[in-house]
Amino acid sequence: MRKPFIAANWKMNKTIEETGAFISSFLPLVKDVRDVDILIAPPFTSLSTASQLLKNSNVQLGAQNVYFEEKGAFTGEISVSMLKSAGCACAIIGHSERRQYFKETDEIVNRKIRITRDNGLDVILCVGESLEQREQNKTFDVLDRQLSGSLLDLTLDGITIAYEPIWAIGTGKTATPEQANEAHAFIRDWLRKHKDGADSTRIQYGGSVTPDNVETLMSQPEVDGALVGGASLKPDSFAALVKGAL
Ligand code: PGA
Repeated sequence: MRKPFIAANWKMNKTIEETGAFISSFLPLVKDVRDVDILIAPPFTSLSTASQLLKNSNVQLGAQNVYFEEKGAFTGEISVSMLKSAGCACAIIGHSERRQYFKETDEIVNRKIRITRDNGLDVILCVGESLEQREQNKTFDVLDRQLSGSLLDLTLDGITIAYEPIWAIGTGKTATPEQANEAHAFIRDWLRKHKDGADSTRIQYGGSVTPDNVETLMSQPEVDGALVGGASLKPDSFAALVKGAL
């Protein structure tokens, strides 16, 4: 059995003060949840504060991105050792917004995953097709290309895959549970064919997940959790979502 894994991707939202206020309200709401892994990925500026507040709790800290070099003249970038010292256990890598707005290729994603895992942090690897690609029946080709490129020469240790169809992100248009399960099944098959440990690797769904639809999504056999943007920004909504995954 794969333990459900619900992660909050706050994107470019919340100051340090807002992060503190969220965590103070959120932790009591989920303190008894043991059967779901919970992670919050705030902006870099909030990591240190969040790490203090999450200490000894059942909520892990993650980063939304990382750079693929150890250190040096890379103005504005953040290394994995910085994330580690800020208390992160995990980094989200290859989010479609990074791919789209910051031109991250599968090769870059691959380098980021490698350095992150080499330094002992886990990874949430995001993959997913655009609306145009779905309409042209290219979903599986896109997933195949992203998985092959991103996971080239890498094992699945410490990796969670997040299937996030771009057309469902922030749009209120969730994939139907069947569409999500079909894509997850394709990913699981791909992992079985190419890697060891496919059956214990968790595959999250992401794209307009809310407390209202999380249960139906999670009832699908291949859906092991969710990567949540908008609905993770309010403590009560994110707590309801976590409990809906039980
Ligand atoms: P959303 O974002 O839940 O706001 O659609 C999900 C994501 O981008 O990870």
